[in-house]
Amino acid sequence: MILVTGGAGYIGSHTIKALLSRGYEVVALDNLSVGHREFVLCEEFVKADLLDREALERVFQKYPIRSVIHFAAKTAVGESVENPEVYYYNNVVGTLNLLSAMRAHGVGEIVFSSSAAVYGDPERIPIPEDHPKRPKSPYGRTKLMMEEILADYSRAYGIRYVALRYFNAAGSDPEGVIGEWHDPETHLIPIVLEAALGVRDHVEIFGTDYPTPDGTCIRDFIHVVDLAEAHVLALERLREGRAGPAYNLGTGVGHSVREVIEVCKRVTGRDFRVVEGPRRPGDPPALVADPTKAKQELGWEPRFTELEEIIATAWEWMLKLYGRR
Ligand SMILES: NC(=O)c1ccc[n+]([C@@H]2O[C@H](COP(=O)([O-])OP(=O)(O)OC[C@H]3O[C@@H](n4cnc5c(N)ncnc54)[C@H](O)[C@@H]3O)[C@@H](O)[C@H]2O)c1
Repeated sequence: MILVTGGAGYIGSHTIKALLSRGYEVVALDNLSVGHREFVLCEEFVKADLLDREALERVFQKYPIRSVIHFAAKTAVGESVENPEVYYYNNVVGTLNLLSAMRAHGVGEIVFSSSAAVYGDPERIPIPEDHPKRPKSPYGRTKLMMEEILADYSRAYGIRYVALRYFNAAGSDPEGVIGEWHDPETHLIPIVLEAALGVRDHVEIFGTDYPTPDGTCIRDFIHVVDLAEAHVLALERLREGRAGPAYNLGTGVGHSVREVIEVCKRVTGRDFRVVEGPRRPGDPPALVADPTKAKQELGWEPRFTELEEIIATAWEWMLKLYGRR
Protein backbone atom coordinates (compact mmCIF):
# COMPACT_ATOMS: atom_id res chain seq x y z
CA MET A 1 0.00 0.00 0.00
CA ILE A 2 1.16 3.53 -0.77
CA LEU A 3 0.73 6.34 1.73
CA VAL A 4 0.11 9.67 -0.02
CA THR A 5 0.53 12.64 2.32
CA GLY A 6 -1.20 15.81 1.13
CA GLY A 7 -3.49 13.51 -0.85
CA ALA A 8 -6.40 15.96 -0.72
CA GLY A 9 -4.32 18.70 -2.35
CA TYR A 10 -3.94 19.65 -5.98
CA ILE A 11 -1.03 17.47 -7.15
CA GLY A 12 -1.61 14.75 -4.52
CA SER A 13 -5.21 14.11 -5.58
CA HIS A 14 -4.20 13.86 -9.27
CA THR A 15 -1.41 11.44 -8.36
CA ILE A 16 -3.82 9.27 -6.39
CA LYS A 17 -6.06 9.11 -9.46
CA ALA A 18 -3.06 7.96 -11.55
CA LEU A 19 -2.03 5.38 -8.93
CA LEU A 20 -5.56 3.94 -8.71
CA SER A 21 -5.77 3.62 -12.50
CA ARG A 22 -2.62 1.44 -12.34
CA GLY A 23 -4.14 -0.79 -9.67
CA TYR A 24 -2.14 0.46 -6.66
CA GLU A 25 -3.71 0.44 -3.21
CA VAL A 26 -3.54 3.86 -1.62
CA VAL A 27 -4.18 5.50 1.73
CA ALA A 28 -4.34 9.29 1.72
CA LEU A 29 -3.41 11.47 4.68
CA ASP A 30 -4.19 15.18 4.86
CA ASN A 31 -5.01 17.68 7.59
CA LEU A 32 -7.46 19.40 5.18
CA SER A 33 -5.92 22.78 6.02
CA VAL A 34 -5.95 23.44 2.28
CA GLY A 35 -7.02 20.18 0.65
CA HIS A 36 -10.54 19.05 -0.23
CA ARG A 37 -11.87 15.77 1.13
CA GLU A 38 -13.99 15.22 -1.98
CA PHE A 39 -10.89 15.20 -4.18
CA VAL A 40 -9.57 12.06 -2.50
CA LEU A 41 -10.57 9.26 -4.85
CA CYS A 42 -9.13 6.32 -2.86
CA GLU A 43 -11.29 4.66 -0.23
CA GLU A 44 -8.86 4.98 2.64
CA PHE A 45 -8.49 8.51 3.99
CA VAL A 46 -7.06 9.66 7.30
CA LYS A 47 -7.52 13.23 8.47
CA ALA A 48 -4.30 13.83 10.38
CA ASP A 49 -1.50 16.33 10.73
CA LEU A 50 2.14 15.41 10.17
CA LEU A 51 2.95 17.32 13.36
CA ASP A 52 0.84 14.79 15.31
CA ARG A 53 3.29 11.94 15.88
CA GLU A 54 0.73 9.73 17.61
CA ALA A 55 -1.68 10.00 14.71
CA LEU A 56 1.14 9.09 12.31
CA GLU A 57 2.03 6.09 14.44
CA ARG A 58 -1.59 4.91 14.25
CA VAL A 59 -1.59 5.22 10.45
CA PHE A 60 1.58 3.14 10.11
CA GLN A 61 0.18 0.57 12.56
CA LYS A 62 -3.14 0.27 10.76
CA TYR A 63 -2.06 0.09 7.11
CA PRO A 64 0.53 -2.19 5.46
CA ILE A 65 2.47 0.74 3.99
CA ARG A 66 5.33 -0.10 1.66
CA SER A 67 6.08 3.30 0.13
CA VAL A 68 5.30 6.95 0.74
CA ILE A 69 4.65 9.79 -1.68
CA HIS A 70 5.02 12.98 0.31
CA PHE A 71 3.18 16.08 -0.95
CA ALA A 72 1.98 17.58 2.34
CA ALA A 73 3.51 21.00 2.84
CA LYS A 74 2.67 24.64 3.16
CA THR A 75 3.33 26.12 -0.26
CA ALA A 76 2.97 29.92 -0.38
CA VAL A 77 6.32 31.65 -0.94
CA GLY A 78 5.16 35.09 0.25
CA GLU A 79 3.56 33.71 3.40
CA SER A 80 6.78 31.83 4.18
CA VAL A 81 8.67 35.15 4.18
CA GLU A 82 6.13 36.70 6.57
CA ASN A 83 5.87 33.69 8.86
CA PRO A 84 8.88 31.39 8.46
CA GLU A 85 8.32 29.56 11.74
CA VAL A 86 5.10 27.98 10.49
CA TYR A 87 6.93 26.83 7.35
CA TYR A 88 9.92 25.31 9.15
CA TYR A 89 7.64 23.47 11.58
CA ASN A 90 5.06 22.29 9.12
CA ASN A 91 7.40 21.32 6.31
CA VAL A 92 10.65 20.31 7.99
CA VAL A 93 9.43 18.98 11.35
CA GLY A 94 6.44 17.36 9.62
CA THR A 95 8.81 15.54 7.27
CA LEU A 96 11.07 14.46 10.16
CA ASN A 97 8.03 12.99 11.93
CA LEU A 98 7.06 11.15 8.77
CA LEU A 99 10.58 9.78 8.32
CA SER A 100 10.79 8.57 11.90
CA ALA A 101 7.44 6.77 11.56
CA MET A 102 8.76 5.21 8.33
CA ARG A 103 11.94 4.05 10.09
CA ALA A 104 10.02 2.66 13.05
CA HIS A 105 7.91 0.58 10.67
CA GLY A 106 10.64 -0.44 8.24
CA VAL A 107 9.23 1.60 5.33
CA GLY A 108 12.16 2.36 3.05
CA GLU A 109 10.86 4.21 -0.02
CA ILE A 110 9.76 7.81 -0.41
CA VAL A 111 9.03 10.10 -3.34
CA PHE A 112 9.26 13.71 -2.23
CA SER A 113 7.72 16.91 -3.69
CA SER A 114 10.55 19.31 -4.12
CA SER A 115 10.47 22.49 -6.14
CA ALA A 116 12.27 24.69 -8.65
CA ALA A 117 12.39 27.09 -5.68
CA VAL A 118 15.52 25.24 -4.48
CA TYR A 119 17.54 26.88 -7.27
CA GLY A 120 16.83 30.54 -6.52
CA ASP A 121 17.91 32.95 -9.28
CA PRO A 122 19.14 30.79 -12.15
CA GLU A 123 22.63 31.34 -13.53
CA ARG A 124 21.60 29.67 -16.76
CA ILE A 125 18.45 28.46 -18.54
CA PRO A 126 17.33 25.70 -18.90
CA ILE A 127 18.18 24.61 -15.37
CA PRO A 128 19.79 21.18 -14.91
CA GLU A 129 19.66 19.29 -11.59
CA ASP A 130 23.27 20.12 -10.69
CA HIS A 131 22.66 23.87 -10.97
CA PRO A 132 23.71 25.75 -7.76
CA LYS A 133 21.02 25.82 -5.11
CA ARG A 134 20.40 29.15 -3.42
CA PRO A 135 16.73 29.29 -2.47
CA LYS A 136 15.45 32.81 -1.90
CA SER A 137 12.58 32.17 0.50
CA PRO A 138 11.97 30.16 3.65
CA TYR A 139 9.64 27.98 1.52
CA GLY A 140 12.47 27.17 -0.91
CA ARG A 141 14.85 26.61 1.99
CA THR A 142 12.48 24.09 3.59
CA LYS A 143 12.48 22.14 0.30
CA LEU A 144 16.30 22.14 0.09
CA MET A 145 16.61 21.18 3.77
CA MET A 146 14.24 18.28 3.27
CA GLU A 147 16.27 17.07 0.29
CA GLU A 148 19.40 17.22 2.45
CA ILE A 149 17.67 15.40 5.30
CA LEU A 150 16.60 12.68 2.84
CA ALA A 151 20.18 12.33 1.58
CA ASP A 152 21.44 11.92 5.17
CA TYR A 153 18.69 9.42 6.01
CA SER A 154 19.51 7.51 2.86
CA ARG A 155 23.21 7.28 3.77
CA ALA A 156 22.68 6.48 7.43
CA TYR A 157 19.50 4.39 7.45
CA GLY A 158 19.23 3.12 3.88
CA ILE A 159 15.97 4.97 3.11
CA ARG A 160 15.64 5.18 -0.68
CA TYR A 161 14.21 8.41 -2.05
CA VAL A 162 13.55 10.49 -5.10
CA ALA A 163 13.06 14.26 -4.96
CA LEU A 164 10.97 15.62 -7.82
CA ARG A 165 11.55 19.31 -8.42
CA TYR A 166 8.40 20.65 -10.07
CA PHE A 167 8.40 23.86 -12.02
CA ASN A 168 4.90 25.47 -12.36
CA ALA A 169 2.16 22.90 -11.96
CA ALA A 170 -0.88 23.77 -14.06
CA GLY A 171 -4.03 22.34 -15.64
CA SER A 172 -6.57 19.90 -14.27
CA ASP A 173 -7.77 16.34 -14.71
CA PRO A 174 -8.98 16.20 -18.34
CA GLU A 175 -11.90 14.00 -17.19
CA GLY A 176 -13.03 16.85 -14.96
CA VAL A 177 -13.32 14.73 -11.80
CA ILE A 178 -10.83 16.79 -9.79
CA GLY A 179 -8.89 19.99 -10.39
CA GLU A 180 -7.01 22.95 -9.02
CA TRP A 181 -8.71 24.76 -6.17
CA HIS A 182 -6.64 26.92 -3.89
CA ASP A 183 -8.19 29.56 -1.66
CA PRO A 184 -6.75 32.15 -1.84
CA GLU A 185 -5.46 31.42 -5.33
CA THR A 186 -1.82 32.35 -5.88
CA HIS A 187 -1.07 30.59 -9.19
CA LEU A 188 -1.00 32.54 -12.43
CA ILE A 189 -3.23 30.46 -14.73
CA PRO A 190 -6.22 30.09 -12.37
CA ILE A 191 -5.93 33.77 -11.46
CA VAL A 192 -6.10 34.78 -15.12
CA LEU A 193 -9.00 32.36 -15.70
CA GLU A 194 -10.86 33.84 -12.73
CA ALA A 195 -10.59 37.20 -14.49
CA ALA A 196 -11.95 35.57 -17.66
CA LEU A 197 -14.86 34.22 -15.63
CA GLY A 198 -15.53 37.62 -14.12
CA VAL A 199 -14.99 36.54 -10.51
CA ARG A 200 -11.88 38.72 -10.46
CA ASP A 201 -11.96 42.32 -11.68
CA HIS A 202 -8.60 42.28 -13.45
CA VAL A 203 -5.21 40.58 -13.72
CA GLU A 204 -2.09 42.37 -12.58
CA ILE A 205 1.23 41.76 -14.30
CA PHE A 206 4.03 42.07 -11.75
CA GLY A 207 6.83 43.68 -13.73
CA THR A 208 7.06 44.50 -17.43
CA ASP A 209 10.72 45.54 -17.49
CA TYR A 210 12.42 42.16 -17.08
CA PRO A 211 15.23 41.20 -19.48
CA THR A 212 12.89 38.89 -21.44
CA PRO A 213 11.53 39.32 -24.99
CA ASP A 214 8.24 40.92 -23.86
CA GLY A 215 9.47 42.26 -20.51
CA THR A 216 7.40 39.88 -18.35
CA CYS A 217 8.55 36.85 -16.34
CA ILE A 218 8.94 33.48 -18.04
CA ARG A 219 7.89 30.21 -16.39
CA ASP A 220 7.75 26.53 -17.35
CA PHE A 221 4.19 25.19 -16.96
CA ILE A 222 3.87 21.46 -16.48
CA HIS A 223 0.50 19.71 -16.58
CA VAL A 224 -0.57 18.13 -13.31
CA VAL A 225 -1.39 14.86 -15.11
CA ASP A 226 2.19 14.72 -16.38
CA LEU A 227 3.42 15.37 -12.85
CA ALA A 228 1.20 12.57 -11.55
CA GLU A 229 2.62 10.21 -14.17
CA ALA A 230 6.18 11.13 -13.15
CA HIS A 231 5.40 10.09 -9.56
CA VAL A 232 4.20 6.67 -10.65
CA LEU A 233 7.32 6.20 -12.80
CA ALA A 234 9.63 7.48 -10.05
CA LEU A 235 8.11 5.06 -7.55
CA GLU A 236 8.48 2.15 -9.96
CA ARG A 237 12.11 3.00 -10.79
CA LEU A 238 12.83 3.51 -7.08
CA ARG A 239 11.54 0.02 -6.38
CA GLU A 240 13.85 -1.33 -9.06
CA GLY A 241 16.73 0.57 -7.41
CA ARG A 242 17.24 2.67 -10.51
CA ALA A 243 16.19 6.19 -9.58
CA GLY A 244 17.43 9.22 -7.77
CA PRO A 245 18.27 11.37 -6.17
CA ALA A 246 16.54 14.32 -7.90
CA TYR A 247 14.72 15.15 -11.12
CA ASN A 248 13.45 18.37 -12.65
CA LEU A 249 9.90 18.16 -13.91
CA GLY A 250 8.99 20.74 -16.52
CA THR A 251 8.40 20.78 -20.25
CA GLY A 252 11.70 22.56 -20.95
CA VAL A 253 9.80 25.38 -22.70
CA GLY A 254 9.12 28.72 -21.05
CA HIS A 255 6.10 31.00 -21.52
CA SER A 256 5.86 34.63 -20.49
CA VAL A 257 3.11 36.09 -18.32
CA ARG A 258 1.83 38.08 -21.32
CA GLU A 259 1.74 34.91 -23.40
CA VAL A 260 -0.26 33.11 -20.69
CA ILE A 261 -2.76 35.98 -20.64
CA GLU A 262 -3.09 35.97 -24.44
CA VAL A 263 -3.59 32.19 -24.57
CA CYS A 264 -6.18 32.41 -21.78
CA LYS A 265 -8.09 35.04 -23.79
CA ARG A 266 -7.97 32.80 -26.85
CA VAL A 267 -8.99 29.58 -25.07
CA THR A 268 -11.85 31.20 -23.15
CA GLY A 269 -12.96 33.54 -25.91
CA ARG A 270 -13.31 36.26 -23.25
CA ASP A 271 -11.64 39.58 -22.72
CA PHE A 272 -10.72 41.07 -19.36
CA ARG A 273 -8.78 43.94 -17.86
CA VAL A 274 -5.00 43.60 -17.52
CA VAL A 275 -3.10 46.03 -15.29
CA GLU A 276 0.65 46.49 -15.46
CA GLY A 277 2.24 46.80 -12.01
CA PRO A 278 5.73 46.88 -10.52
CA ARG A 279 7.95 43.84 -10.04
CA ARG A 280 7.37 41.65 -6.98
CA PRO A 281 10.46 41.20 -4.83
CA GLY A 282 12.06 37.79 -5.30
CA ASP A 283 10.67 36.79 -8.72
CA PRO A 284 13.46 35.53 -11.03
CA PRO A 285 13.03 36.74 -14.65
CA ALA A 286 12.94 33.22 -16.09
CA LEU A 287 12.62 29.69 -14.69
CA VAL A 288 12.76 26.87 -17.23
CA ALA A 289 13.60 23.23 -16.50
CA ASP A 290 16.02 21.00 -18.27
CA PRO A 291 13.99 17.77 -17.96
CA THR A 292 16.50 15.54 -19.80
CA LYS A 293 17.39 13.45 -16.74
CA ALA A 294 13.75 12.59 -15.95
CA LYS A 295 13.17 11.64 -19.58
CA GLN A 296 16.25 9.44 -19.77
CA GLU A 297 16.16 7.78 -16.36
CA LEU A 298 12.44 7.63 -15.56
CA GLY A 299 11.26 7.18 -19.15
CA TRP A 300 9.00 10.18 -18.57
CA GLU A 301 7.60 12.23 -21.43
CA PRO A 302 5.13 15.06 -20.80
CA ARG A 303 1.93 14.60 -22.86
CA PHE A 304 0.70 18.17 -22.51
CA THR A 305 3.39 20.15 -24.30
CA GLU A 306 1.19 22.98 -25.63
CA LEU A 307 0.26 25.80 -23.28
CA GLU A 308 -3.09 25.96 -25.06
CA GLU A 309 -3.96 22.38 -24.06
CA ILE A 310 -2.88 22.92 -20.47
CA ILE A 311 -5.01 26.05 -20.17
CA ALA A 312 -7.97 24.34 -21.86
CA THR A 313 -8.10 21.65 -19.13
CA ALA A 314 -7.79 24.33 -16.45
CA TRP A 315 -10.65 26.31 -18.04
CA GLU A 316 -12.95 23.29 -18.31
CA TRP A 317 -12.39 22.61 -14.63
CA MET A 318 -12.92 26.20 -13.61
CA LEU A 319 -16.23 26.37 -15.45
CA LYS A 320 -17.28 23.30 -13.52
CA LEU A 321 -15.98 24.65 -10.20
CA TYR A 322 -17.87 27.90 -10.56
CA GLY A 323 -20.86 26.12 -12.06
CA ARG A 324 -21.63 28.43 -14.94
CA ARG A 325 -20.97 28.68 -18.63
N1 LIG B 1 1.77 23.65 -7.25
C1 LIG B 1 3.00 23.86 -7.70
O1 LIG B 1 3.22 24.50 -8.74
C2 LIG B 1 4.19 23.27 -6.96
C3 LIG B 1 5.47 23.54 -7.46
C4 LIG B 1 6.57 22.99 -6.81
C5 LIG B 1 6.39 22.19 -5.69
N2 LIG B 1 5.14 21.96 -5.22
C6 LIG B 1 5.01 21.10 -4.02
O2 LIG B 1 4.11 20.05 -4.30
C7 LIG B 1 3.39 19.67 -3.14
C8 LIG B 1 1.91 19.70 -3.44
O3 LIG B 1 1.56 21.01 -3.89
P1 LIG B 1 0.05 21.39 -4.24
O4 LIG B 1 0.09 22.49 -5.22
O5 LIG B 1 -0.72 20.15 -4.51
O6 LIG B 1 -0.36 22.02 -2.83
P2 LIG B 1 -1.72 21.85 -2.00
O7 LIG B 1 -1.69 22.91 -0.96
O8 LIG B 1 -2.89 21.77 -2.92
O9 LIG B 1 -1.52 20.42 -1.32
C9 LIG B 1 -0.81 20.23 -0.12
C10 LIG B 1 -1.72 19.43 0.81
O10 LIG B 1 -1.00 19.13 2.01
C11 LIG B 1 -1.90 19.30 3.12
N3 LIG B 1 -1.05 19.59 4.28
C12 LIG B 1 -0.25 20.67 4.47
N4 LIG B 1 0.39 20.57 5.65
C13 LIG B 1 0.01 19.39 6.21
C14 LIG B 1 0.33 18.72 7.43
N5 LIG B 1 1.17 19.25 8.33
N6 LIG B 1 -0.24 17.52 7.68
C15 LIG B 1 -1.12 16.97 6.79
N7 LIG B 1 -1.46 17.56 5.62
C16 LIG B 1 -0.91 18.76 5.34
C17 LIG B 1 -2.84 20.41 2.71
O11 LIG B 1 -4.10 20.37 3.35
C18 LIG B 1 -2.99 20.17 1.20
O12 LIG B 1 -4.10 19.34 0.90
C19 LIG B 1 3.83 20.64 -2.04
O13 LIG B 1 4.82 20.01 -1.26
C20 LIG B 1 4.41 21.81 -2.82
O14 LIG B 1 5.38 22.49 -2.07
C21 LIG B 1 4.04 22.48 -5.82
